[in-house]
Amino acid sequence: MASSKRWLSLGRVTVCVVLLVSALGCRKQAREPVPDGGVASAFDRPLGSQSASALAARPGAAAPPIDPIPPHTVPPLTAREKVGQSIFFDATLSNPPGTSCSSCHEPGMAFSGNNGSLSGVARGSRPAHFARRNAPSVMYLKYVPPFHFALEDDDDTAESPFGGLGWSGRADTVAEFARHPLFDADEMNGKSDAELAGKLRAAPYAADLAREYPGALETPASAMNALGEALQAFLTSATMSPFTSKFDDFLRHKVELSPLEKKGLSAFENRAKGACNHCHLMYEHSTRPDSSLFTTYVYDAVGVPRNRAIVANADPKRYDLGLCERTQKTVPSSDPKWCGSFRVPSLRNVAVRQRFMHNGVFSKLRDVVAFYATRSTSPDLWYPHGAKFDDLPGRYRGNVNTLSFPYNRHEGERPPLDDADIDAIVAFLETLTDEPYRSALAAK
Ligand code: HEC
Ligand code: HEC
Repeated sequence: MASSKRWLSLGRVTVCVVLLVSALGCRKQAREPVPDGGVASAFDRPLGSQSASALAARPGAAAPPIDPIPPHTVPPLTAREKVGQSIFFDATLSNPPGTSCSSCHEPGMAFSGNNGSLSGVARGSRPAHFARRNAPSVMYLKYVPPFHFALEDDDDTAESPFGGLGWSGRADTVAEFARHPLFDADEMNGKSDAELAGKLRAAPYAADLAREYPGALETPASAMNALGEALQAFLTSATMSPFTSKFDDFLRHKVELSPLEKKGLSAFENRAKGACNHCHLMYEHSTRPDSSLFTTYVYDAVGVPRNRAIVANADPKRYDLGLCERTQKTVPSSDPKWCGSFRVPSLRNVAVRQRFMHNGVFSKLRDVVAFYATRSTSPDLWYPHGAKFDDLPGRYRGNVNTLSFPYNRHEGERPPLDDADIDAIVAFLETLTDEPYRSALAAK
């Protein structure tokens, strides 16, 4: 970040200088860990005795540009991460060739997107083949915990499911997850480990792969292992969790939110309004952006409307039951009470996505927020075909959450959010867009 930015926080520095008398306030803040494991040590040095006494000796002198929270930088990709990036963009890995991971997780859309499909679910490598769900952003994945059960709130008596990758926690690591798109006949349509190993041997990055993972190209199993590890290294790299949004700069006290964005933030947090942060967790007063990932990774049954544009949904018996269909046996989640639950997605970069929710039923962010506002008070708006929660078989509709804010109101009551609140929340959500995607947002 440009050094001029440092001056933005001069006011803060002045406050710190005053606090220096007691010497504690600033240091405490400066020692807060920064994302990616580092500690904000830069500040330990400059604020040492030398600069402090220099300041004290010249009362009234302009404070030097010492930044209590050093400028945030994202380190470049390592050699391993670069190999993973090459694999991620390799369109020869599909059958027929032409579809890479990046086709459905496009960099210009914060690594979400549906490979040109407009129905809400992603298009695969073959014509008329579609993935089952809307492709989520694959940014900020390094923070997703493995699938597990735990108490959500201290006063809960039963444990809730958390974590795992995908809308229904199908895998615990990227390396494990990658096999799904690679071999799914409706996604990349890969045939076998041996076939993919052959493609990796012929790839322009083959030498790099073998250098980073010795023996990688020797057997199909070692090749698949290296492919998984490299993809994991790339997707969990600092580049993929940049924390460069306006909201992050707001947490770092580098910028102010506009009045509309502030109103949105407060409606997002207010229990009587959105209460969004209960599931889309954030801490307004923490200077650590990585404590605001906008999800607790818990699962919830939100009861989104059926997406009738999905070709497979022409079959009225075709349903996506989410968590209860997960097949992993180590920590099972097959209890029917989990049918209809999906993992709470992070809302970072949500504004650059084209489709929302696991079934991609919404194409406008404002509609998603409006859905939360009136799902319970005016269900007719969202379920025009009669039955509420129509994307679930009747026997599971009772699983849908009708007790939590903001959807615990009754039909006909006043919605928790009015139109102005909805606009404000959308404006706030737009502040969650990372630096490289801000222009994509502006072009929308
Ligand atoms: C044809 C489109 C398509 C392609 C190609 C594709 N994905 Fe995905 N991806 C999806 C969809 C759809 C989901 C959601 C799957 C689910 O919930 O079951 C997803 C989810 C993911 C997730 C989980 C994200 C999260 O938030 O938990 C990861 C990781 C991922 N993909 C990685 C990859 C990698 C690596 C590749 C290339 C090997 C790839 N994807 C190729 C469509 C695709
Ligand atoms: C009780 C938990 C809970 C609360 C409260 C909640 N959400 Fe969500 N949110 C979810 C879940 C679960 C999903 C995914 C649902 C699905 O796809 O079936 C989701 C999805 C979303 C999405 C779509 C993201 C994407 O990538 O597709 C947006 C946007 C969103 N929520 C915004 C909000 C806002 C704004 C509020 C407050 C008005 C809110 N949420 C309150 C659980 C919650």
